[in-house]
Amino acid sequence: MNCLCMGIVFGEYLLSILSFGGLTVSLAAILIVAERLLVNYGTCKLDINAGQKPLEVPGGQTLLASLYASQIFIPSACGGKGSCGHCKITVTAGGGPVLPTETAYLSRKEMRSNVRLACQVKIREDIYVRIPEDMLNVRMFTSTLESIKDLTHDIKQIRLALNDPAEISHRPGQYVQVQAPSSDGPVFRAYSISSPTYESNVVELVVRLVPGGIGSTYLHNLQVGQAVSFTGPYGEFVLNDDPSVEIVCVGGGCGMAPMKNIIYTLYHRWPERSCWLFFGCRTVRDVFYLGQFQELAGKHSNFHVVYALSDKLGEDEDWDGETGFIHLAADKHLEPNVRRQAFLCGPPPMIEAVTRVLEEKGIGSQDIFYDEF
Ligand SMILES: Cc1cc2nc3c(=O)[nH]c(=O)nc-3n(C[C@H](O)[C@H](O)[C@H](O)COP(=O)(O)OP(=O)(O)OC[C@H]3O[C@@H](n4cnc5c(N)ncnc54)[C@H](O)[C@@H]3O)c2cc1C
Ligand code: FES
Repeated sequence: MNCLCMGIVFGEYLLSILSFGGLTVSLAAILIVAERLLVNYGTCKLDINAGQKPLEVPGGQTLLASLYASQIFIPSACGGKGSCGHCKITVTAGGGPVLPTETAYLSRKEMRSNVRLACQVKIREDIYVRIPEDMLNVRMFTSTLESIKDLTHDIKQIRLALNDPAEISHRPGQYVQVQAPSSDGPVFRAYSISSPTYESNVVELVVRLVPGGIGSTYLHNLQVGQAVSFTGPYGEFVLNDDPSVEIVCVGGGCGMAPMKNIIYTLYHRWPERSCWLFFGCRTVRDVFYLGQFQELAGKHSNFHVVYALSDKLGEDEDWDGETGFIHLAADKHLEPNVRRQAFLCGPPPMIEAVTRVLEEKGIGSQDIFYDEF
């Protein structure tokens, strides 16, 4: 076969793939539009916890949207796009088969236990769900920006004074979902609460600016006095109540937020308790809160603060802390076989490396908690 013939055959082959792909996409779009316009599912029953909260909702919406409209706020860090896996709830009947868009986020055990992604399940008939009590207590809060200040070149501390409700009850390590405006309507983004639990009339956040990011750009540009809405609190971390258990916090960047909450809450309740803070930064300009934590360590002899810089020092830079990756600093300072609970917060590679070190030191995986972001 000459080059011309091969080109024609290849062209026809490509054309048939493109037209088949185009046909599939068009058919899917037609089906979605047809379902919206032609199918009326009427009103469906949405039963929560076997009759604890029976609701009537219009069919055709997602389970997440129907719950939201009924003031039940399920964690949804990606805003319902099916890309965070946070909106898991148990659907005991009426949810239809598990969709391909859900399988990446559900373990086999979860699928066997009827766990589903609420943002992917459409209500087409009466549906029966189980929602933990904690989640039913999540509220929508209105607040006012009390202060905003630079912590580093790209991280700000944001304090929100609560209006309605005027107080929040949360556990250290929990987070809220801030509502930010976008061209497609309001979106929600998750931010850990950095203020300690005893400051119940305020929610403080530590927010890193993601270039072009909707939520972080909105928060970084807030003006004092501006209104901010959020839902919360969310998160399953529970601090071990046994004061003989040592607490280890390891993180970097905006991963500081939940750790600051944990540490201040801890020393308010147990002034003698043992706790380590390992905080990884790239350069001197990424360091924040160090002086504040050193001051706290001056008051509590069992509190140990270790900051480490991973990049080489500049010629004019001064640093007398650790250098290298933060998991190596944890490896260097922690004695093995001490009863501990660990909380890790940062990017996935850091979490992986620190988890390995902690497991080698004898901490069981059931005592290692983490938030990846
Ligand atoms: C449980 C939990 C707690 C969190 N707590 C905090 C916190 O305390 N402080 C904080 O600053 N953030 C926190 N985050 C991350 C936060 O929810 C947002 O994902 C982040 O602020 C980016 O949102 P955005 O709307 O600005 O960007 P988006 O508009 O969502 O994204 C814009 C673009 O940036 C990319 N992108 C998104 N996130 C990142 C990232 N982290 N780094 C680089 N690129 C990114 C996206 O892929 C997209 O292309 C937390 C996340 C979770 C799940
Ligand atoms: S809300 Fe993110 S996966 Fe459902």
